[in-house]
Amino acid sequence: MTKEPIRTRAFSWRECLAVTFGLALLCPFRATFGWGPEGHAIIALISEHYMTPAALTRASDLLDGSTIVAVASWADDYRRDNRQTGPWHYIDIPLADSRIDMARECPEGDCVIGKTEQFLAVLRDPKADRQTKAEALRFVVHFIGDMHQPLHDEDDGDEGGNRRHVIFDGHPDNLHWVWDSGLLKHITRNPEALAAELESRITPQDRADWEKGTIEDWVMEGHRLAQTVAYGGLGNGNPAMITATYERQADPVVELQLEKAGVRLAYLLNTDLTPSLAWQESERSPQPAPSKGNPDAKVWVNTRSGAYHCPGTKWYGKTKEGEYMTQKQAQEKGYHPAYKEPCL
Ligand code: ADE
Ligand code: ZN
Ligand code: ZN
Repeated sequence: MTKEPIRTRAFSWRECLAVTFGLALLCPFRATFGWGPEGHAIIALISEHYMTPAALTRASDLLDGSTIVAVASWADDYRRDNRQTGPWHYIDIPLADSRIDMARECPEGDCVIGKTEQFLAVLRDPKADRQTKAEALRFVVHFIGDMHQPLHDEDDGDEGGNRRHVIFDGHPDNLHWVWDSGLLKHITRNPEALAAELESRITPQDRADWEKGTIEDWVMEGHRLAQTVAYGGLGNGNPAMITATYERQADPVVELQLEKAGVRLAYLLNTDLTPSLAWQESERSPQPAPSKGNPDAKVWVNTRSGAYHCPGTKWYGKTKEGEYMTQKQAQEKGYHPAYKEPCL
C-alpha cells in the first residue's frame, strides 16, 4: 500500500477566489461525481472476474468490442453535458433517517435506485434495441458503483458531503471528494493491482451473502456506513480534519464497498444480460419459432431471466420472480421456453 502524496494539490482558498472559471475544478467546493475513475474501474475489473463467459461476450458485443472497465465512468462524462441526469447518480436520504422514502427521495424514479432498476429492465427487455441496451449497460455498470459510495446514499444538508469542508493531506477539500477519490488514492494508484488484491479476499460465502437482498437494501447498507463511519468519525470541526485515525476506519469500508459492488454487478449482469442465447440470436436475424406448442398452455415466466417453464417441470411456479400466463402471451411478449422446446 503506497502512502505517497500522489494527488495534485488542491488550491488554497485565496487562490480559489482568484481562479478563473477554467480552474474552478481544482477548488475545494468542486462538485464530484461518483467514485473517481479509479473506483469505477476497480469495480468493473472485479465484476469481470465473476462474470460468466456468456455475459462477458454479450457485454463486449453490445459495447462494440470495448469492455465494462473502459466504459465504467462514461455516465459521469455524459452528466456534464446532460445536467438533468445528475440526480440519477445518488439518492439524498436524510443522514439521520433509517428508511428510504421513495416518493420524496426518488421523485419520478430520478435517483440511483430508480434509474438502476429502469436500466436493468431494459437489459432484460427482449424488445429493446441494441443501442438502447448498450446505453443501459453503461449506466448500470456506473450506477451499481455509485450506490456503493456511502455519500451517494445520503444528504446532510450538504449535497452528499460536497459542501462539507475538510482538510485532507493538509489541503482544503470536501468530504464527498475524499470518499470518491481521496481515500482510494492513498490506498493505491494502480486499479489492476487493487482489484486483484480485493478479489483474493472474497470468499464463496461472501458472494452468496452479498448477492442477497434488493437494490434498496444495498443502498441502505451504504447509508448506514455514511452515518457510522463517513460522518460518525468526522467530529464537528469546520473544516474537519481527515486524520490518520479516520482513514484507518474508512479504508476497510471503501475496500469492502468496492468488493461488494463488483460482486453484485457481476451477479446482475450474469442474470440480466444473458437471459437466453435464443433471443440474442433472434435479435441478429429474426427467425420464426419452428414449433410454438400449445398456445393455451398455462406457463410460468421467470420475468428476471426471460425463460418460461412448462407445467410439471422443476421451476414451474418456483422462481423468485415470475408470473403465470398462456404460452401464446409469453411468446408474444418475447419470452422463450426454458428448455428450448415449447410446452405441448
Ligand atoms: N448532489 C446532491 N446530493 C448528492 C449526493 N448524495 N451525492 C452526490 N452528489 C450529490
Ligand atoms: Zn461522488
Ligand atoms: Zn456517478
